[in-house]
Amino acid sequence: MDPEAPDLEEYLGEVGRIGIDLIAEKGEVIAVEGVQKNIIGCNWKLAVDNLFDWYHVQISHASAMMSGYGGPQSPPLDKDGNPYMPRSNPMDSYAHRVLLGEYGHAISGPRITGPQREDMEAMGDNVPLFIDERWRETPSAREALGEAGRDTRGHPNIFPNLWIASAGTQLSLRLPRGPGHCEIWWFTIIDKNLPVEQQHIRITNANHTFGPAGMLEQDDGENWDQSTRATSGVVARRYPLNFQMGKGLGTPTKPATGPNYIDTHVNEHAQFWTYRSWAEWMDAESWAALKVSRPSNPDQAV
Ligand SMILES: [Fe+2]
Repeated sequence: MDPEAPDLEEYLGEVGRIGIDLIAEKGEVIAVEGVQKNIIGCNWKLAVDNLFDWYHVQISHASAMMSGYGGPQSPPLDKDGNPYMPRSNPMDSYAHRVLLGEYGHAISGPRITGPQREDMEAMGDNVPLFIDERWRETPSAREALGEAGRDTRGHPNIFPNLWIASAGTQLSLRLPRGPGHCEIWWFTIIDKNLPVEQQHIRITNANHTFGPAGMLEQDDGENWDQSTRATSGVVARRYPLNFQMGKGLGTPTKPATGPNYIDTHVNEHAQFWTYRSWAEWMDAESWAALKVSRPSNPDQAV
């Protein structure tokens, strides 16, 4: 509605478009009718910060995993149905990729490693659903995602508050309801061509992951609520937060085409990027001023 605002294509830029393409290139998908909504007693920025946070996963979500949230694990099989010993190991999940884009968009989290790619090839149709990334090999997906996007399994945030979650099966909007409350909207995305029973399984899985009944959402929400309260304490307000860990250590790779990216381990680059972008937005007096001052896809350490 604002004639000064950039159009969607320009606003998304390369990194925002890759974030959307991580759903769009999976094939024909539909949004499930109905939106799950709930309010958490947190500042909305902590919910956004958390989507890039890969420190908390093993600890905050340990009880969900222990309760059987991940479902029964069947032994791995190769594509012919024979027992298979995966080449990848849990340490592969610490190899990360970060994409930082214009206007504040970012993607950060694990990247696909060589051993994981070998496993997908060897297991074929027996590869577990949550690590099946073979859709990325279609010519269309390879072109859309480019070098930077092909191997990212991180979480995209379309700045400021749209999280593309759970490998593109859920979308989350974080709507501020004052400084201490955030209304969360959850949309579920499923493969249009799956049999109905399979669609129901996917929807149930989504509801049990994020949303009011989501096991991971409840873990996260408790942390955001308590972090919000902790920042308003007498002592917490007396001192600035220390933002120096990892600063200056992210050196981007510059591909021939597409956005620069940073290959590293668990990090905070995307959180810094988000807060820095938020400060730029708050300081800019107009879209024209923001277009000049906004940070662009960095080509040096951040
Ligand atoms: Fe979490």
